[in-house]
Amino acid sequence: MKAFTFGLILGLLAIPVAGFLFFKFGKPPVATADPSLPFERQIVSVPLEVRIHREMPGSVPVSADAAAYGAGAAIYQSQCVACHGLPDRPSSFAPNMFPRAPQLFERHGDHVGVSDDEAGETYWKVANGIRLSGMPSYKKVLTEKELWQVTLLLANADKLPPEVQKQLTTPAQLINSAGTKNVRDVAR
Ligand code: HEC
Repeated sequence: MKAFTFGLILGLLAIPVAGFLFFKFGKPPVATADPSLPFERQIVSVPLEVRIHREMPGSVPVSADAAAYGAGAAIYQSQCVACHGLPDRPSSFAPNMFPRAPQLFERHGDHVGVSDDEAGETYWKVANGIRLSGMPSYKKVLTEKELWQVTLLLANADKLPPEVQKQLTTPAQLINSAGTKNVRDVAR
C-alpha cells in the first residue's frame, strides 16, 4: 500500500514537472509558423461551438435583398478582404496565420465560404470575434445593421446576384454603389 501511495504521488508530481521542463527547455509552439500541438484544434473549437450555439440569434432582423448585399459588400471590402479574400482572389497571407483565415468566397462542394452555416452563427463570430485567432470583434466597429448586412452577404455567398459579385471585385464602383455608406464612413 505504501509503495502504491508513493508511486501515485510520484506519478502525479511527474505531470507538472514534465510540463515545466517542456515550457522552460523545450520548444513550445509559440510561433505562428510552428506546427500545432496534438488535438489543439479540437480543444479550442469544441467550447467555441458550444458557446456559439447557446448564444447565437435564431432569427435574422434584416431582409436578405440587393440593398443588404450591396451594403454588406462595401463593409466586406473595407474590413474583411485582406484576411478573407475575394472570389478568385485569395488573401496572400491568410494561409500563414494560425489559425489560418478561411477564404470566405472559396467554393467547397455546393457551398461558398460559410454559406452552409446558419446566419446567426456567422453573425455571432463577426460580432464577438474569435479569441486567440486573428478574427477581430466587430461589435464596436460596425452598427447592428451593418453586422447583419455583412453576415447576409456571407450567408448567401453561393447565390449572390452578378452585380454584387462585380461590386466585390471592382473597388472603383464600390464607392458609388455601396448603398447607405461609402468605404471611408464604414472604416471610421
Ligand atoms: C486580421 C484578419 C481578419 C480580419 C480583418 C477578419 N477576419 Fe474573420 N477570421 C480571421 C481568422 C484567422 C479566422 C479563423 C478563426 C478560427 O479558425 O478560429 C476568421 C474567421 C471568420 C469566420 C468564421 C469562418 C468559419 O469557417 O467558421 C467568419 C464568418 C469571419 N471570420 C468573418 C469576418 C468578417 C465578416 C470580417 C470583416 C467584417 C472579418 N472576418 C475580418 C481573421 C480575420
